[in-house]
Amino acid sequence: MKVLVTGVAGFIGSHLAERLLREGFQVIGVDSFLDYYSRKIKENNLKGLVNKNGFSFIEGSIFELDLMGILKRVDTVFHQAAIPGVRASWGKEFYRYIENNILATQVLLESCKDVKINKFIYASSSSVYGDADALPIKETTNTQPVSPYGVSKLAGEHLATLYFKGYGIPTVSLRYFTVYGPRQRPDMGFHKFISAILLGKEIEIYGSGDQTRDFTFIDDVVEANLQAFVKGKGGEIYNVGGGSRISLTETIKIIEEIAGRKANLKYTEAQKGDAKHTYADISKARRDFSYNPKVDIYEGLKRHYDWLKENLDIYR
Ligand code: NAD
Ligand code: UGA
Repeated sequence: MKVLVTGVAGFIGSHLAERLLREGFQVIGVDSFLDYYSRKIKENNLKGLVNKNGFSFIEGSIFELDLMGILKRVDTVFHQAAIPGVRASWGKEFYRYIENNILATQVLLESCKDVKINKFIYASSSSVYGDADALPIKETTNTQPVSPYGVSKLAGEHLATLYFKGYGIPTVSLRYFTVYGPRQRPDMGFHKFISAILLGKEIEIYGSGDQTRDFTFIDDVVEANLQAFVKGKGGEIYNVGGGSRISLTETIKIIEEIAGRKANLKYTEAQKGDAKHTYADISKARRDFSYNPKVDIYEGLKRHYDWLKENLDIYR
């Protein structure tokens, strides 16, 4: 079985491709090395993939690749490519979100209608919900993003569903909830908190710290992709959360415990675009493809901490 992973040099795409290779898939990975964060970090993400049997890498943007040539060679698409920052999506930057999150998704789907694709998995996002009216959040909850990024991910998701309805491409959208673990992007909370405590620097908390997230460990997200590949229903949308929610303040306490030292906290203004709380109802994914997140926040943060401690140089 041959599959395409877009955004393969990214945090999630690289883990997903490694797992697919371990499962015996042949993987074509594409990535444009978007400069949202450094190429050096992305090249490091690819280290477990390059020169591995069954893996081939094509550098380039979805817009400039020979998509038909690639798609004719694969059965399944795992579309992870995007510009992922929530708080950075305001102002002039938004054109890059339109391009890489909306337009690139449409271009890819458009090419898929002329070939036989068994499953198209779209990496969607909890950011489509914004400040949900009630918790836990079901897939039927109103989507009212509070960031331009969320708007772009929701548009991509709508396109995926449209191409299912219009052309029968079996698209499945997975709404990931704040993913963490080894190789987490350098702009994300846990990466910054753990780096800061390791280097004895200040941790900047946006707002009061009482915001909550349903943090999801990377291995659980990868597992959800594999399960959805087999059993996810075409045209459907699924929440992929970690199974519980926790406040930022509580996560700092866990990191302090793991590190064996106190964090130096600096509270700054809450950021525009951040949802206050997220918490996924995962019963639909559980029902349709037996999704069952296995890594709790303590174990996940310990694994993230241990990895970053050994690999801090990559980010300096
Ligand atoms: P990432 O930035 O680490 O990876 C995305 C990769 O896509 C990057 O390497 C980038 O260079 C590549 N890319 C972007 N535009 C491209 C294009 N036009 N052509 C080819 N490659 C392109 O981000 P991530 O955290 O791994 O996120 C992966 C996906 O999951 C994204 O779609 C993101 O929106 C979604 N998501 C992430 C999280 C999270 O917590 N990390 C949560 C919800 C959803
Ligand atoms: C994450 C990803 O970055 C998005 O790509 C993804 O789409 C989104 O999850 C999702 O679930 O859909 P976010 O929840 O903002 O977005 O993840 P973090 O950057 O790890 O932030 C988590 C919390 O920590 C937020 O409340 C944020 O305000 C806070 N934070 C982050 C700080 O207080 N300080 C920081 O330096 C960074």
